[in-house]
Amino acid sequence: MAVNPTEAFELLFTREQIVERIKQIAEQVDQDFHGSRLVVVGVLKGAFLFAADLIRELTTETEIDFIWLSSYGTERFSAGEIRVQKDLELPIRGRDVLVVEDIVDTGLSLKFLKQHLMLREPARLAFAGLVDKKAARMTEVSIDYVGFEVAQGFLVGYGMDDAGLYRGLPEIYRLPPIADK
Ligand code: IMP
Ligand code: MG
Repeated sequence: MAVNPTEAFELLFTREQIVERIKQIAEQVDQDFHGSRLVVVGVLKGAFLFAADLIRELTTETEIDFIWLSSYGTERFSAGEIRVQKDLELPIRGRDVLVVEDIVDTGLSLKFLKQHLMLREPARLAFAGLVDKKAARMTEVSIDYVGFEVAQGFLVGYGMDDAGLYRGLPEIYRLPPIADK
């Protein structure tokens, strides 16, 4: 690995762009959930930074909770069986809930989450995805708040990892194709 691992990575979104986009999303959420006491659900691990930055931009009152999914598949492709590794602690029946994801790829995790959480009969269930990789979709899902659309590739940084690494990078990068690694 190079001394600076990001040298070989393609910078897609700077810290400033991410901050600005999250402010815009927060404005929309504030409009849509005005007067609510919103349960923000961060999907671990990837969404922990997005969730943290988003709740600090919201004027809507929030409670934060986390859910941790595991899926079995290859390292960069997760279209396997999805399980709940760690479930919510807060009850959400009758509550307004915003699920916060780092990236929506095949859409299978989001679809699973929707089914899983709807069983608890929240008043409203909305989804925010910082990155939308629409072209990779294997199932149709609707995302209420999208940060950025990216056509292809595997992304790291700002919470997103490759085999556990790079979550702490403040920017979002695209990795070179796997054959070049
Ligand atoms: P999906 O179920 O295929 O939509 O994938 C959802 C999860 O896979 C995301 O929440 C990420 O944790 C992970 N994932 C998908 N694509 C990427 C990527 O490009 N970089 C890092 N993680 C990814
Ligand atoms: Mg994830």
